[in-house]
Amino acid sequence: MDKVKLGIIGMGRMGITHYSIINSYKSVDIVAVADASNLILDVLKKYIPQLGVYKDYKELIDVEKPDAIIVCTPPVSHFEICEYACEKGIHVFCEKPFTVSPVDAQKLSEAFEAKGLINQVGYVNRFNDAFTFTRKLVKENVIGDIIRFRSEMFSCTISKKEEGEGWRNKRENGGGVTYEMASHAIDLVNYLIGTVGSVQGTVMTQVYSKVVEDIVSSTLRCSNDVYGTLYVNWCDKSYRKPSNKLEIFGHKGKILVDQHGIKIFMNEGNDQYGYHIGWNTIYITDIFTPVPFYVRGYEFTRQLYYFVDLILGLREEPICTFKDGANVLQSIHGMFKDNLKN
Ligand SMILES: NC(=O)c1ccc[n+]([C@@H]2O[C@H](COP(=O)([O-])OP(=O)(O)OC[C@H]3O[C@@H](n4cnc5c(N)ncnc54)[C@H](O)[C@@H]3O)[C@@H](O)[C@H]2O)c1
Repeated sequence: MDKVKLGIIGMGRMGITHYSIINSYKSVDIVAVADASNLILDVLKKYIPQLGVYKDYKELIDVEKPDAIIVCTPPVSHFEICEYACEKGIHVFCEKPFTVSPVDAQKLSEAFEAKGLINQVGYVNRFNDAFTFTRKLVKENVIGDIIRFRSEMFSCTISKKEEGEGWRNKRENGGGVTYEMASHAIDLVNYLIGTVGSVQGTVMTQVYSKVVEDIVSSTLRCSNDVYGTLYVNWCDKSYRKPSNKLEIFGHKGKILVDQHGIKIFMNEGNDQYGYHIGWNTIYITDIFTPVPFYVRGYEFTRQLYYFVDLILGLREEPICTFKDGANVLQSIHGMFKDNLKN
């Protein structure tokens, strides 16, 4: 295969972002999109007349027979769309938080692996240079064995009393800060420290939402027996854009990292990296590798190009599989059960 025939299901905020990014890749032919809204389909038909548009994703798959699809619908529909794609032998990139059930997520992971289909979840931070470089530093023991960590995420997604009926206001649809935001913060722990095995002392608080939680905190225990805390707030007006922050405290120093850079405090010097005792700063511009097309953040481009390259056989090692998505859902559902306010 030298060109991937691609369909996109769900042309809302993320669908349009992904469309614009992957449309820039010469090895991709976007054959069609599907969306439940006639309004969106009419606009797409008007401005991109050559694009196939469908209201029913099954019809898109049956008629267009794409090699791969990108799933950007609300999380509650991800399971049935991925399951249908798997039956038809189609590779899938699915937006986070993947599904709304860890059991369904595990089922999909096994089904895609059994069929040898490429499966990727949109935990985009795994393609951000500050986080990939931090992973390398942790793996190479630059700050020694990890003792504790903090994983935080802040955004201003919900800034006033929620009156609407959108999917983000209902947990059964995949709404609430835990599915929407904490999923990113948990995935970063799985990626940088070790897979979270259990959670305790979870507290979920409402600020503006009527039904779902707006702030979540919890204590995480990773499978390598390292403990840390999670704190995620999606009503914080001091943030303009979603922001992930981690503090990783080790025997030889500590790392503070966010999407834009890394600060390392060293208890002793490190000759290999040229780090001296005290604070060392790594700016994203020091470690950044450029992408050919930029929308929203270079990591968004890199994750989709990577998905296509896996299909084309240009890459071998998957990053952020359905199994990784299932791991995050285990922790999220652990938190729902553990919530002290239940
Ligand atoms: N990775 C990130 O940083 C990031 C950021 C935002 C959203 N997301 C994820 O992307 C997904 C979509 O979020 P969004 O903000 O684009 O939502 P959105 O509400 O803007 O868009 C969803 C679209 O899906 C369509 N839709 C709903 N059900 C459908 C169905 N069964 N078939 C076809 N179309 C259907 C809707 O009409 C809508 O246009 C969610 O899983 C969300 O968590 C990820």
